[in-house]
Amino acid sequence: MKTIGVLTSGGDAPGMNAAIRAVVRTAIYNKVRVLGIKRGFNGLIRGEIEEMDVASVGEIIHRGGTILHTARCEEFKTEEGLKKAYNIIKIFGIDGIIVIGGDGSFRGARDLSKFGVPVVGIPGTIDNDIACTDFTIGFDTAVNTVLDALNKIRDTVTSHERVNIIEVMGRNAGDIALYAGLSGGAEDIIVPEIPFNVDNVCRILIEGKNRGKVSYILIVAEGTKNSFQLAKEVEEKTGLEVRVTVLGHIQRGGSPTAADRILASRMGAHAVKLLLSGKSNRVVAIRGSQIVDYDIDEALSMKKEFDHEMYELAKILSI
Ligand code: F6P
Repeated sequence: MKTIGVLTSGGDAPGMNAAIRAVVRTAIYNKVRVLGIKRGFNGLIRGEIEEMDVASVGEIIHRGGTILHTARCEEFKTEEGLKKAYNIIKIFGIDGIIVIGGDGSFRGARDLSKFGVPVVGIPGTIDNDIACTDFTIGFDTAVNTVLDALNKIRDTVTSHERVNIIEVMGRNAGDIALYAGLSGGAEDIIVPEIPFNVDNVCRILIEGKNRGKVSYILIVAEGTKNSFQLAKEVEEKTGLEVRVTVLGHIQRGGSPTAADRILASRMGAHAVKLLLSGKSNRVVAIRGSQIVDYDIDEALSMKKEFDHEMYELAKILSI
């Protein structure tokens, strides 16, 4: 293995830069060349590739986003797109590719591996929706961003004695909602993994009010119910004043937390070591405190478990 390519793909996540830095510096330390591929699989198809050195990843460990830029690539899902990418890989003499992204990106990597290209995936997404790993790079930062917003919203919600519905990202996963909800003491957490009905939500609010509560935060994960529709129904059924805050892409930015930087550094270094030891078609993961790796097909076939125990705890503690 003389030359490794690295790219970021899908939605960006804080800590991706720390992962790129770890890949580049671990490879160079082991006398391996690194090529940075810009704009995910789009850049691979188009040959948007440049050599990276130790200095090119200086001053980035603390920065959100990704210096390589990122994109979602429809063309890569086609045989023609894959063939174009394979040609570029041959032209640039790339011996293995590290893909930092979510499971859509891993599917792309897996398809590329069928051409005989060694690939390793590093889970980078705020959603924490990759089954083989306890945590993905960017999740901790996103949760802290939501928590910071929640704390601020709590101030004004209490002053006005209102309900605030905070809509968070997560695609089809409720982890951002769950972790931010538990750590922020939300009155209720609505996630795609657990069926809910508006009457139950209203009952929680009314019971709280009867016990003297004056502020109510509901965390709603995207992919459940339209927050504005929910607000209207809650207002009608409880008589409480309701506001909605959709946090949106603010959750994808910001300086990564220490936890994300450490996770990214460990995963990036592990990915390089896998390629250097001749292993390929792997996804790096963290289980407990251990960095491990899985076969890419196995990783893609695993089903993400929602933490029902934590969800129940959040319910109990928010009475
Ligand atoms: O996967 C990360 C994520 O931020 C999801 O939480 C969200 O559903 C989606 O990406 C938003 O994508 P886009 O950046 O294309 O709006």
